[in-house]
Amino acid sequence: MHRRVATVVARATPTAAYLMPLRVFHSVLEPAGPQAASITWLWWVMFAVCAAVFVIVLGATGAAMLRSWMRSDASARAGESTLGAAVAAGVGLTVAILFGLLVADIRAHRIVSSFGAPSAVSIAVTGHQWWWEIEYEDATPSRRLKTANEIHIPIGRPVVFKFASHDVIHSFWAPNLQGKRDLVPGISSAIWLQADRPGIYRGQCAEFCGRQHAHMAFDIVAESDADFERWLDAQRGSAREPQSEEALRGRAVFLARQCAFCHTVRGTGAYGNVGPDLTHLASRGTIAAGTLPNSRGHLAGWILNSQTIKPGNQMPPNPLEAGDLQALLAYLEELR
Ligand code: CUA
Repeated sequence: MHRRVATVVARATPTAAYLMPLRVFHSVLEPAGPQAASITWLWWVMFAVCAAVFVIVLGATGAAMLRSWMRSDASARAGESTLGAAVAAGVGLTVAILFGLLVADIRAHRIVSSFGAPSAVSIAVTGHQWWWEIEYEDATPSRRLKTANEIHIPIGRPVVFKFASHDVIHSFWAPNLQGKRDLVPGISSAIWLQADRPGIYRGQCAEFCGRQHAHMAFDIVAESDADFERWLDAQRGSAREPQSEEALRGRAVFLARQCAFCHTVRGTGAYGNVGPDLTHLASRGTIAAGTLPNSRGHLAGWILNSQTIKPGNQMPPNPLEAGDLQALLAYLEELR
């Protein structure tokens, strides 16, 4: 059942790179945690019951047709006398089956919506057209951190996701870990999930939210406690200082051009909050909410004119001259 699909991501974090062979096939039928397992269990119960009912109904229909074809008048009169009993048995069986499915449904629902430990990791997710804003909550404000589209969680521990939407209705769905939950503007909601084994679990927006709804994916990277804490500490830090002349020039380009109006790079003067936080952009495996691998070439194409890649997104074209573009790319590549 546990199918692993290796993927090629041009440039990923050391953590994500080591986990890459653990990319798990995006499927409800391959659960990796207790909530998803209960949904899979319910799916198989429904499938087995419905398949059995289908076969029985088809068999009974076939038998009835065969009998009416072969019967004499005497046997037809005898058949009428058993009709009432057959209908009663059918109704009784249907009620029993539906009641059984109701009980199975309630059992699955209790597991899916049961709440975990108070010490759980708490992650606020805000849906935007068309990307995911991710904020790790902490009682100490300075320890909160924002990122986008790539969510790291520790294995074997409950994680609470709190949802909100910035614009329209989106739906958060990582089928290997939990069911769907809508992100509705003005309404907050939450789910719990837990991953029982390491892996990269793909998620996808599951509610039509506009032109680029299909390009609104995310990854949940489930890793050991130690790896998770290391990642969290690294992400909490401000952006590293440019390490080369070119990257230094790139930062100047970033701050002088319109990039800084929409994006934040902590530790610089860029505090825009229209687009994703780029403080640790280079640590992420993909760009544009799972649309492209995070490689230099894809990043260049995205910066110059993202409208040709993801039409309708909020980022305008940036016709940079070649030297500025290369410097900007050198800078962004250092934001690990
Ligand atoms: Cu967001 Cu579909």
